[in-house]
Amino acid sequence: MAKITTATLKKMKQQGEKITTITAYDASFAKLFDQAGIHAILIGDSLGMVLQGHDDTLPVSIDDMAYHTLCVSRGVENTLIIADMPFMSFATPEQAYVNATKLMQSGASMVKIEGGQWLESTIKGLVERGIPVCAHLGLTPQSVNVFGGFKVQGRDNEQALAMIANAKALEAAGAQLLVLECIPSSLGKAITDAVAIPTIGIGAGKDTDGQILVMHDALGISCSYMPKFSRNFLIDTGDIKKAIELYITEVSNGNFPGPEHIFK
Ligand code: KIV
Ligand code: NA
Repeated sequence: MAKITTATLKKMKQQGEKITTITAYDASFAKLFDQAGIHAILIGDSLGMVLQGHDDTLPVSIDDMAYHTLCVSRGVENTLIIADMPFMSFATPEQAYVNATKLMQSGASMVKIEGGQWLESTIKGLVERGIPVCAHLGLTPQSVNVFGGFKVQGRDNEQALAMIANAKALEAAGAQLLVLECIPSSLGKAITDAVAIPTIGIGAGKDTDGQILVMHDALGISCSYMPKFSRNFLIDTGDIKKAIELYITEVSNGNFPGPEHIFK
């Protein structure tokens, strides 16, 4: 497998090939996922929950993210490395430039930021300065206190239309990838059809251009609960490498997510 770039992912969308991504936080898992053929690895700020044991992602610092990005980058050869910008690390464009630089210099090839239209100037500025951006809409966990809990987003028509408008604005600002989290599958499809950049879903139905899972959920070892949209691939295989290969196969052939994993 050749080195994967944002251009590879865009071409995959155009050709209707599913993009398979997963989180990782260390070199060993990153290497295993890279060798299994995962297209992109996200160093998610989910590490606040699955590694650090917090109830949400808000306590994660930019130094935590930089440390785990360095660890992952040492295990990766071909996979695209995306690193999350943690809570309040991109509150202003200037803060975003300083903090995104730390992640890029730790081995990321792209940074991910949560939020809608208000990020237009931040995204434009990052891309102009050489930092590719993955946007993130829907249940953006850094806003859990605004949502009043981890709740499916975009359920009413007005919210859904606003999310489509946000997706278009983020694309126009220069975002090259878009994560969609916990939204009705019909909205996942509508946004995927409305933008030319690839969409990566988690609890967003089967019609997004790709899928992402938190590795602990995909392996059934999360310390809290198993989200409805996830599947334990280890239970069917009994081997971590085979579990990841099964995840890749099931996403590629359209079997995952199944009807039991989606929100209507
Ligand atoms: O932090 C994370 O792992 C994420 C994914 C769930 C998209 O943002
Ligand atoms: Na995240």
